[in-house]
Amino acid sequence: MKILETTRLLLREFTPEDADALALVLSDPETMRYYPAPYDRAGVERWIERNRQRYQDEGVGLWAMELKEPQDSEVHKTIGDCGIIVQRVDGERLYEIGYHLRRDFWGQGLATEAAVACRDWAFAHLKTERLVSLIRPENLASRGVAERTGMTVWKEVNWRGLLHYVYSIERSSQLRFLANELPQ
Ligand SMILES: CC(C)(COP(=O)(O)OP(=O)(O)OC[C@H]1O[C@@H](n2cnc3c(N)ncnc32)[C@H](O)[C@@H]1OP(=O)(O)O)[C@@H](O)C(=O)NCCC(=O)NCCS
Repeated sequence: MKILETTRLLLREFTPEDADALALVLSDPETMRYYPAPYDRAGVERWIERNRQRYQDEGVGLWAMELKEPQDSEVHKTIGDCGIIVQRVDGERLYEIGYHLRRDFWGQGLATEAAVACRDWAFAHLKTERLVSLIRPENLASRGVAERTGMTVWKEVNWRGLLHYVYSIERSSQLRFLANELPQ
């Protein structure tokens, strides 16, 4: 099921058939360097199942990030994930924007394009005043995406045993952000 479209990308729900394409993202040690370990094949399949369960339970989850116009040489249109998951932070239920992109697609603005679209989708479809992203301080690439999405550091938390910045954007500041994006 399609969720949203941007200039270059389509976000849709994952299916089990995406495992080969997603393994190129989640099994790459460089892409997963801020995680405990890269996922093996069974882990990728379970990851897809977890997100399919989230679609049912929460109406959101991490969605497949698909190129609308892949090069002829591209075997897989799916090059990563971006979406929204429910997290508990300091006992509070919050919606988090998350993303992972295949390494050979870094540096083209694709993660930011997807995250901005998820931000706007979330404020349009979810009853929430705030969106967050939990990011390790040393993960500069991810912090860059959060900042380009209009987020700022709200607080620090110890999450799964490691210090994380909780980047956040509130609905009211998203409206200001959108107004600033309008052509003069
Ligand atoms: C986090 C991650 C998705 C960021 O990917 P990215 O490609 O660097 O992010 P963006 O899509 O915002 O692209 C920004 C870069 O593209 C460049 N760029 C090129 N064309 C662009 C365009 N049309 N629009 C915007 N930026 C563009 C920017 O200058 C910037 O380059 P720089 O990194 O050299 O400054 C990627 O590093 C990743 O998958 N990391 C591993 C997973 C991870 O840590 N996820 C987050 C967990 S908290």
